[in-house]
Amino acid sequence: MNAHSDHAHPSRRKFIKTTGSVIAASPFALNLLSSSPVFAGLNSETLKVGLVGCGGRGTGAANQALKADDNVVLHAVADVFEDRLNSSLENLTKAHGKKVKVDEGHKFLGFDAYQKLIDSGVDVVLLATPPGFRPDHLTAAVEAGKHVFCEKPVAVDAPGIQKVLAAAKKAKEKNLSLMSGFCWRYHYPKRETFGKILEGAVGDISTIYNTYNTGTLWSKPRQPEWSEMEYQLRNWLYYNWLSGDHIAEQAVHSLDMMSWALGDPKPVSAVGTGGRQVRTEDQFGHVYDHFAIVYEYEKGAKGFHFCRQQFNCENSYAVEVFGNKGNALVDCTRGVHEIKGQTSWRFKGEQNDMYQTEHDELFAAIRKGTPINDGNYMAQSTMLAIMGRMAAYTGQKITWEQAMNSKEKLGPEQYTWDVQYPVSSVPKPGITEFS
Ligand SMILES: NC(=O)c1ccc[n+]([C@@H]2O[C@H](COP(=O)([O-])OP(=O)(O)OC[C@H]3O[C@@H](n4cnc5c(N)ncnc54)[C@H](O)[C@@H]3O)[C@@H](O)[C@H]2O)c1
Repeated sequence: MNAHSDHAHPSRRKFIKTTGSVIAASPFALNLLSSSPVFAGLNSETLKVGLVGCGGRGTGAANQALKADDNVVLHAVADVFEDRLNSSLENLTKAHGKKVKVDEGHKFLGFDAYQKLIDSGVDVVLLATPPGFRPDHLTAAVEAGKHVFCEKPVAVDAPGIQKVLAAAKKAKEKNLSLMSGFCWRYHYPKRETFGKILEGAVGDISTIYNTYNTGTLWSKPRQPEWSEMEYQLRNWLYYNWLSGDHIAEQAVHSLDMMSWALGDPKPVSAVGTGGRQVRTEDQFGHVYDHFAIVYEYEKGAKGFHFCRQQFNCENSYAVEVFGNKGNALVDCTRGVHEIKGQTSWRFKGEQNDMYQTEHDELFAAIRKGTPINDGNYMAQSTMLAIMGRMAAYTGQKITWEQAMNSKEKLGPEQYTWDVQYPVSSVPKPGITEFS
């Protein structure tokens, strides 16, 4: 199973009845209309969704949001590119008809489109741009009192992570839901497996080996009319100010599961290696095509992470957990979830479409006034990837404190179409300095 595609599995959906009569009759209605401060400002029980970043994942997330609840409409969309915005709207309209209620005045384009969307009267914001923009978009959405679905990774540098942590705290104070796109946390087989590991099924954990070794991804040929900014945005995977490099953009899913198995403690340090051996042409910006990082944890556990984006190599997308009472295997490609040792167990329960479950649970939480807040772990798992990237780029051992206090801010100070944002050279271990 590849987390970079939406899944077509039939899903178990909980439709929440919110017709006037049901609302008027139930205690749930009282909660909805008066006791939840989040709903104090709402004048209608129809939840209006706004989508920021109308690409593959954003369109998928909007589709799932519209399926999650009978009384949800798509109210506004925002993107930097008109073609992406239009094709997303076309697909969503085909799938959902009248639930797509986006007036001409609610189609926002440009670098400030997210703010206009947030100010357009939406209740829930879906954030699915390249992650370099996420901290600012999340901060603005929470500031304005919106519930948020926030795709992973949630930042590309430590200053961004600090902003996300502050926004997550504020969301909690304001009783807002903040759901992360770390989708495996919403996958029933993984919930059960990691639940057992956390209850001690493999005993004390000494080692976690985890991988995201896969082929290369798409790239778009340069067009003569594109500025450098447009080229980088269209090919955002290959610029670390936009993607965080592939350890953050893609492999962070495996790091998130490593962290989950341990109960999400902060690591002590990371040391590692990486580089680009195959994907070396200019069109691939300055990112690496492989990383190997060792994370050290306080109680002596070590996490060994490998990720690779190279064709024609052995692929693997899995987490293996070794403890003093046994070991566990979660293989995302083969769909295997099993524990061997003092406990022997294999998952045989219900499979679910985790992407749909995310939105089913998000909208149910909003309706009930019982907010979900994934803020801390989504920031910490993203920071694991950033810390690993720092260790590989510099060739140095990086402690958690150093990484969290890094002042390195990737990307231009201001976003404009004519900014000639220079492409920094490919980082060189032992020469590239930590900052
Ligand atoms: N959870 C998962 O399994 C999963 C799967 C795929 C992607 N993702 C994540 O979702 C995010 C989007 O990935 P994608 O595959 O949809 O990429 P994409 O390129 O298909 O979509 C990104 C969209 O954002 C738009 N955009 C760029 N900058 C913007 C800005 N400043 N304001 C508004 N719009 C902007 C782009 O024009 C594009 O339409 C990434 O963070 C990615 O890592 C998660």
